[in-house]
Amino acid sequence: MGDGRIRIKFELNGSERQIDVDLSDSLLDVLRDDLGLTGTKRGCDRGLCGACTVIMNGKAVNSCQIPAMRANGKNILTIEGLAVDGKPHPLQEAFVDEGAVQCGFCTPGMIMSAKALLDQNPDPSDEEIKVALSGNICRCTGYVNIEKAVRKAADDIKSLDL
Ligand code: FES
Ligand code: FES
Repeated sequence: MGDGRIRIKFELNGSERQIDVDLSDSLLDVLRDDLGLTGTKRGCDRGLCGACTVIMNGKAVNSCQIPAMRANGKNILTIEGLAVDGKPHPLQEAFVDEGAVQCGFCTPGMIMSAKALLDQNPDPSDEEIKVALSGNICRCTGYVNIEKAVRKAADDIKSLDL
């Protein structure tokens, strides 16, 4: 460890990781620039667009606003951690099926916000879906297909559990 750097340890997409980070690094910096996980997008870098959303200890957070050192000891899930054995997560499938992906820039963040919602509330109302996605900005879709995709994924996940 050099000056101004600190070693952090955390669980990332199910694996233990250790990495030296700058005190000024955000979690987004470390994910994209040090770990090469570029599925998490950098939009505004100011906490305003939601493109950088990841799940930290079960909660959707804007990774551009989380100092990397705060990830120490935490459990982090990014979009790269959703597919299982190469099979896309039901949310990923539903976004494609419902035409909720246009340019795709907002999609990873939208899906991570939706996943955090469905993990806590498997049968959300339309209003609850809207609220959960309210921090995620999409320039392309008008949101309707995104909300439909979350509803479809919720139904698909329920039927898989039966
Ligand atoms: S890049 Fe983090 S909220 Fe926009
Ligand atoms: S699909 Fe382009 S920003 Fe949402």
